[in-house]
Amino acid sequence: MNLISSPGGALHGIAALPGDKSLSHRAALFAALAQGESRIENFLVSGVTQAMLDALTALSVPYELDSTTLTVHGHGLGGLKSPPAPINCGNSATTIRLLAGALAMAGVPAVLDGSAGLRRRPMERIVHPLQQMGVDIEALDGHAPLTLGRSPLPLHPLDYTLPVASAQIKTCLLLAALAAGGPTTLREPGPSRDHTERMLRSQGIAVATQKSFENNQPVYITRLTPPYNLSFAPVKLSLPSDFSAAAFLIVAALVTPGSSIVLCDVGLNPARTGLLDALLAMGADICITNPATRSGEPVGDLVVQHSSLRATRVAGEQVVRMIDEFPIFAVAAAYAAGTTIVSDAAELRLKESDRISSLCSELRALGVLAIESPDGFSITGGSPPGGCSVDAHGDHRLAMSLAVAGLAARQPVTIRGADIINESFPEFEPTLRRLGADLAQES
Ligand code: S3P
Repeated sequence: MNLISSPGGALHGIAALPGDKSLSHRAALFAALAQGESRIENFLVSGVTQAMLDALTALSVPYELDSTTLTVHGHGLGGLKSPPAPINCGNSATTIRLLAGALAMAGVPAVLDGSAGLRRRPMERIVHPLQQMGVDIEALDGHAPLTLGRSPLPLHPLDYTLPVASAQIKTCLLLAALAAGGPTTLREPGPSRDHTERMLRSQGIAVATQKSFENNQPVYITRLTPPYNLSFAPVKLSLPSDFSAAAFLIVAALVTPGSSIVLCDVGLNPARTGLLDALLAMGADICITNPATRSGEPVGDLVVQHSSLRATRVAGEQVVRMIDEFPIFAVAAAYAAGTTIVSDAAELRLKESDRISSLCSELRALGVLAIESPDGFSITGGSPPGGCSVDAHGDHRLAMSLAVAGLAARQPVTIRGADIINESFPEFEPTLRRLGADLAQES
C-alpha cells in the first residue's frame, strides 16, 4: 500500500493515542509469567505486539483481547510449555529479546525466529551475556533463529557492562537474572528506558539503580537481587499512551502552519522524552498539562502549537532518551532554520532499517540537504521539502515520518510500502485525518 500525504490545512483537535508499545510487551509477558488472571487496559493492538501474543499462544498461555483490553490467564512459570515448533516473533526485536530472557529464567526450551527483517537484527548482544550466565542458547551467526535448551538452574549471577545502552538487552538479562544464584549487576553507558525495573519493583523484586562516573564517563548501574521464592502476581494495568506514537503528531502540528492540538494521557517517562527536550531547544511551543502517574509511569497531556523551529544539536545521553524518535526528529530538522547535527547515534544503523542511511536518502529525495556521518547525520532545513515518491524501507517509523514530512511540503509525498505502519501504530492515518491531515491510501 502507498500512502499519499498532501499539504493542506492546519491540524486541530484532541487526539487519543494507542497504548505504549514497550509497556504492552512487558505487561503481556509479566502476565504470562504470573499465576492468575491479569487485565491490561489500553494495550497496543499492532503487528509487533501481536507477535508477543502469538508467542504466548505458542507457550500455551491463554489470553483474550477485547478491543484494547487484554486478559491473560497465567499459570505461573510452570504453566509455560515448550513449543513443538519455532516461535515466530515476526518483526519484533522486543519480543525475541525479552522472551529469550524470560524463557532462560523459566527453563523452557524453545526456538525463537522471525521475519527476514528480524533475522538481520543483532542477537549476539543478548546471546553472549546469557551464555556467561550458563544459559544454553545458540544463535545462527549472531542472528535469529535462537535455540534455547533446558539450562541448569540456578543460573550464574552476572556482572556485565553492556556494549550499548539498551533496554532490550537490559530487560533480557534482568529477567534471566531472576533465576540466578545471587545478585546481578549491569552497567550501561546511557539511561535506557526503565519500564522493566518499575514493573519488577511492583512485583516486590529488589532492583536498585544508580548513576555513577567511571573515567569521567557516566555509567548507569542496575542491580537485581533474585527473590528467594520466585513467583509473579497477576498485573492490573492501564497503560499510558505511547510517547513514540505521540511524537509523529507533535511534529505534524509543529510544522503545519496554524495547527493547535492536544494529546491526552501520554507516557512521559524521562527515559523516553528526549525528543521533547530537543524540540523545546528548537523553539517548539509544547506545554505539559495534567501531570499524573498511571500504572507506575508518569503521564500528562501535551498541548502543541505550530512553531517556527531553529536547528539544534543532539548527542550523548540524549540520544538514548530519544532512540526511536530520530526519523521524526529529522523531519522537524528539515523544517527548522539552520543545520541540525546528530552524533553518537551509530545504534540507529541497527534498527528496523539502517535509520541513518534510509532517513538521509529519503529526505534527499524530498530535496532536503541531509548528510550521513558514521554515527549520525546533519540536516539543513528551513524551506519546505518538495514532493515525490519515497520508500518506507520496511521501517514503520520511517514511513510515518515521511508522511508527516508531506503535510507541509510543496507537493504531495507518496510513501511506498506504508503498510508497515501497522507494526506499531495502525491508527496513525485515521488519527491524523481526524485532526485535519490530508492522507489517502493508494493500493
Ligand atoms: C525498546 C527498546 C529500544 C527501542 C525499541 C523498544 C524496549 O530498543 O528502540 O523500540 O521496549 O525495550 P534497544 O533496547 O535496542 O535500544
